[in-house]
Amino acid sequence: QEAKLALTPPMGWMSWNFLADKVNEKDLREMADAMVANGLVKAGYQYIFIDDCWQGGRDYKNNIIADPKKFPSGIKALADYLHAKGMKLGIYSDAAPLTCAGYTGSLNFEEQDAKTFASWGVDYLKYDYCGAPEDVETAKKRYTKMANALRKSGRDIVLGVCEWGPRKPWEWAAQAGGQSWRATFDLRDKWKDKGNGIDAVGVMDVVDRISELSQYAGPGHWNDGDMLIIGLKGHKGPSGDLGGKGCTDTEYQSQMSLWCMLNSPLYMSNDLRNMSDVTQKILSNEEVLALNQDVLGKQAERKIKNETWNIFVKPLANGDFAVAVLNRSEATQTAQVNFADLGLMGKYEIRDLWQHQVLGKDKQWKGKVDAHETKVFRLRKI
Ligand code: DGJ
Repeated sequence: QEAKLALTPPMGWMSWNFLADKVNEKDLREMADAMVANGLVKAGYQYIFIDDCWQGGRDYKNNIIADPKKFPSGIKALADYLHAKGMKLGIYSDAAPLTCAGYTGSLNFEEQDAKTFASWGVDYLKYDYCGAPEDVETAKKRYTKMANALRKSGRDIVLGVCEWGPRKPWEWAAQAGGQSWRATFDLRDKWKDKGNGIDAVGVMDVVDRISELSQYAGPGHWNDGDMLIIGLKGHKGPSGDLGGKGCTDTEYQSQMSLWCMLNSPLYMSNDLRNMSDVTQKILSNEEVLALNQDVLGKQAERKIKNETWNIFVKPLANGDFAVAVLNRSEATQTAQVNFADLGLMGKYEIRDLWQHQVLGKDKQWKGKVDAHETKVFRLRKI
């Protein structure tokens, strides 16, 4: 009997935005320590995901090895360190000879690398698609090959398909054996792309893409909105907004709200050792995280979409509904949300999941929403 993997979206911290090619075991251990110390592990974050640039080539038997300068104790020691804390380890490779950053990839070494990862105690593989052919058939083939190799590796290893959208991975990646797939190019620390490049995607661009893909998501197969940029504050990493200051805290709170409503995997990417109280609060709101981890695994539908308002509805396992109200305009606005217009008939107890309080019992919610803010409510039928 095969284990069912990623029945709820994977949660953890990913190295790319903050460390990029400076990824190393010391910083990763410190991130793990910080995740435990500041309650993020208790809140549900589990993984440390090593992204690109960890590799040191292959040994004389063609076994893939870690760069001994970045990982002097080896990957297995890091996996052991995390497992002892009840955490998990993710690693990264690419379906071509070289990764995006030019390090060793896994093409033609799928089985050997899967076995190596399993022997290290790896729990997750992010499998990228740089340097691979354009056509869909090859992509399907290469991801299927790695998925099969992981299955045969003797360890449960989640496969995150990192094909960014051009080949519509939502149509085939689950069947190929992946548990999630990216839907856009890399998300930058910005609200919305202003047209300065195809791979400079902002929070709203991801939302627009993923909102159209709710039918493809479910337990074990998720639309991946890319890393949380929460708390990066314009950090000059690969996803820095080319001289910009990054997002406001209101915008970060919206990303959290929407990634949870849309059931994206949650990969924090800021410096967890050194974050503001606001960042910490946004990342660890357990009532909002509960929407992302709800066992029904139903991605929210965007029921209302106009220039000002986007309103999302997500059914939950216990019969409640989560409703998110996003103001996309540039000014504070008053919303009048009639639940019946969202298909929710009758009266509900309305709980505000950012204020952590019940607002009342009603057939509607009326209130102010700041520019780029997202309110999130849990509605319980009465
Ligand atoms: C492209 C991916 O989309 C990013 O998330 C990151 O993994 C880089 N490759 C690493 O080179």
